[in-house]
Amino acid sequence: MTNFAETAEDLYIVCEDLFKIHKSDDLEVVALRGLDLKVRGGELMAIVGASGSGKSTLLNILAGLDQPSAGRAFVGGRDLLTMTEPEIVNYRRSAVGFIWQQTGRNLIPYLTATQNIELPLVLDGVEAKVARERAMELLAAVNLENRSDHHPEQLSGGEQQRVSIAVALANRPPLLLADEPTGELDAIGADSIYQVLGDLNSRYGVTIIIVTHDPEIASRVNRVVAIRDGRTSMEIFRRVEQTGGVTQVVHDEYVLVDSAGRLQVPREFLDRLSISERAKLFLGEGRVEVLPDSVQRVPLEEN
Ligand SMILES: Nc1ncnc2c1ncn2[C@@H]1O[C@H](COP(=O)(O)OP(=O)(O)OP(=O)(O)O)[C@@H](O)[C@H]1O
Ligand SMILES: [Mg+2]
Repeated sequence: MTNFAETAEDLYIVCEDLFKIHKSDDLEVVALRGLDLKVRGGELMAIVGASGSGKSTLLNILAGLDQPSAGRAFVGGRDLLTMTEPEIVNYRRSAVGFIWQQTGRNLIPYLTATQNIELPLVLDGVEAKVARERAMELLAAVNLENRSDHHPEQLSGGEQQRVSIAVALANRPPLLLADEPTGELDAIGADSIYQVLGDLNSRYGVTIIIVTHDPEIASRVNRVVAIRDGRTSMEIFRRVEQTGGVTQVVHDEYVLVDSAGRLQVPREFLDRLSISERAKLFLGEGRVEVLPDSVQRVPLEEN
């Protein structure tokens, strides 16, 4: 068995040629079709993509809530395709924190903010006093010390999601997954979530993956990966550039090449050049050119 996490020690997540087929009655939906993704330990990154592109499917697999159909998926050296049921239960409890979009799904309504955070610790056998200290530390980390005795209904949506982040991190998992955590929030609420996730990432070094539709995300994380039709298609990196004493943030956009050498050409490029079923590929000077099949052209190499 290849253990990717051991061969490349700074990679925490490695997915290669990952497939997920959802089966219901007679219907089969291929939600992930050969997805490749690598995430470094301690990275703060986001996944974007159209509705139905497979974002939640991927996140649920990484969270141990769903099993992949084929391919390879390693998280922290664990092979998600071969884990046994007890290993999956243990993985979900100690190795990963998860935040749902629906604020109501993350918290128990009749417990206070503090009690919600203490619950996973107490269930894990942590002493009450230690659990209380940990809850207080996390409440401070999500800027909610002054809401410790509030019930979820007494908190704003943004505050509820910040408590949810604290709950998800209670057992100190090295990985935090958030599926559209700001989906039900306004811009100010969303901003407070990104702020807290950024702080927690720097403070605890926890690896964070945020699935979102929010176009603002590119300015809040270091890397955004786009998924299209169940595959990773492109990537945006944020970089700070100093030119002539002026500091500016630059976003570099890349198209991803998968393990089989495939890359996705944006639909608008294909439409513009009327490329549909086939195209011609030429190796040029330090570049590859993609041309419509109707175009006659002498390869640059032979010029
Ligand atoms: N449990 C399921 N059973 C059958 N099909 C499913 C199931 N879950 C997801 N799908 C299908 O798999 C595809 C990917 O769904 P997924 O929920 O991963 O998309 P998404 O990118 O999270 O979309 P959204 O942005 O709307 O949340 C969709 O076509 C969806 O209908
Ligand atoms: Mg989804």
